[in-house]
Amino acid sequence: MNVTVVGLGYIGLPTAALLAQRGHRVYGYDVNAQLRRQLQNKEVATREAAVRQAVHDALDSRGLTVVERIGATDAYILCLPTPTVEGKPDLRYVEAAAAAVAGVAQPGSMIVLESTVPPGATERIFGDALAAQGKAIDEFRIAHCPERVIPGAIMRELRENARVVGGRTPQDAEMVSRLYASFCNGEIARTSLCVAEFVKIVENTFRDVNIAFANELAIFAEELGVDVWATIALANKHPRVNILQPGPGVGGHCIPVDPHFLSDANPIVTELIQAARRVNDRMPYRIARRITELVQPATGSTIALLGAAYKADVEDARESPSSRIDTLLRERGYRTAIYDPLVERFHRPLCGSLRDAVSGADALVLLTPHTVFAEIDPGEVAALMRHPRLMDTRNFFDADQWKRAGFECYTLGRPAPKRLLDAVA
Ligand SMILES: NC(=O)c1ccc[n+]([C@@H]2O[C@H](COP(=O)([O-])OP(=O)(O)OC[C@H]3O[C@@H](n4cnc5c(N)ncnc54)[C@H](O)[C@@H]3O)[C@@H](O)[C@H]2O)c1
Repeated sequence: MNVTVVGLGYIGLPTAALLAQRGHRVYGYDVNAQLRRQLQNKEVATREAAVRQAVHDALDSRGLTVVERIGATDAYILCLPTPTVEGKPDLRYVEAAAAAVAGVAQPGSMIVLESTVPPGATERIFGDALAAQGKAIDEFRIAHCPERVIPGAIMRELRENARVVGGRTPQDAEMVSRLYASFCNGEIARTSLCVAEFVKIVENTFRDVNIAFANELAIFAEELGVDVWATIALANKHPRVNILQPGPGVGGHCIPVDPHFLSDANPIVTELIQAARRVNDRMPYRIARRITELVQPATGSTIALLGAAYKADVEDARESPSSRIDTLLRERGYRTAIYDPLVERFHRPLCGSLRDAVSGADALVLLTPHTVFAEIDPGEVAALMRHPRLMDTRNFFDADQWKRAGFECYTLGRPAPKRLLDAVA
């Protein structure tokens, strides 16, 4: 089949490569001319080795061609960003791409939206775009097939994850699910457009609400003077309880964004969802406030931040709590130094080494639990810091080992050591 993938970002590019691997003739289009040029020159920026390899193979074999404009093909898969602006979904990227596709798509072709959108958006956007071209939506196969991959394992999850294909009609769902079955080995469930849209947002909202619960417990436990991590581990021994882990906030392109698609659509019935968002949004402020309690005065003090990515073992720093905490600390007068060996793009320059970040620092704050950080030798770090203090927002390090190396340790969700609080007083 001839397939055009529109939007060659985190999702679109590996999807295009996988389609090509499975024998489709794939045309990739992105509005970003620099990205198109890079891909045409076989420069693939992602650090995910499996994605890089798959894209190189697809370009080398000419199964994937990066094109300068969208043409007529049997199918279109749209993978555009769907951010929120002040809590409201910004669907302009999807609308612009839908207009471009509607201009060239021939009756009978499939038009599939992978981007996360509010319930009702797929039919409205494609309906309007086709109508603007004098085309009837009934003549096209319209579907929403939300993406569920996890950064770090994109190629494997694209092949193996179960997928939901929501069709505008049962026939649309049937045809599009056949296309997806040609490159996905996971179960493919067919449903309506609106259910597919709702399912995707519900999944991420579930995680947001449950992380908020864990964060609330962490704050409660600190005030109660008990250890939240031990509490959660014990509670999770109940066969029907599975509490998630607290942390410095929720980042990434999906979990902090998608709940707004529900609360914006229906503010009245989404009280819990909105409260969870507020709890998670406040976490970076709580962490920054705790740092200001532990390290005084701000002027002349340096805080070393470990991790810029929004979660472990990924290069992605979008909406990262680290970015918010860094900004808050600098606003309060601290110098900050951030080290993350995985991240290349951040809102300001990162340190080139751990040594650069911790030298002369007054506290070290673990924000992202990258596996490579487990190799850090606390003794070496203590020798470089002005004040060996550790704040661990993920319960990642062995606090006893760091204490033996001379650190004063504070872990989110555990009462602060009395010594540290006395020092503040
Ligand atoms: N990244 C993830 O892990 C992930 C996981 C599940 C779902 N999603 C969802 O998938 C969608 C895509 O996310 P992403 O992470 O791939 O975004 P992204 O920002 O990495 O990529 C989107 C690409 O679309 C391009 N683009 C924007 N407007 C365009 C237009 N009019 N025509 C052609 N190209 C255009 C951009 O230049 C960019 O390269 C979003 O809705 C997101 O919520 C993402």
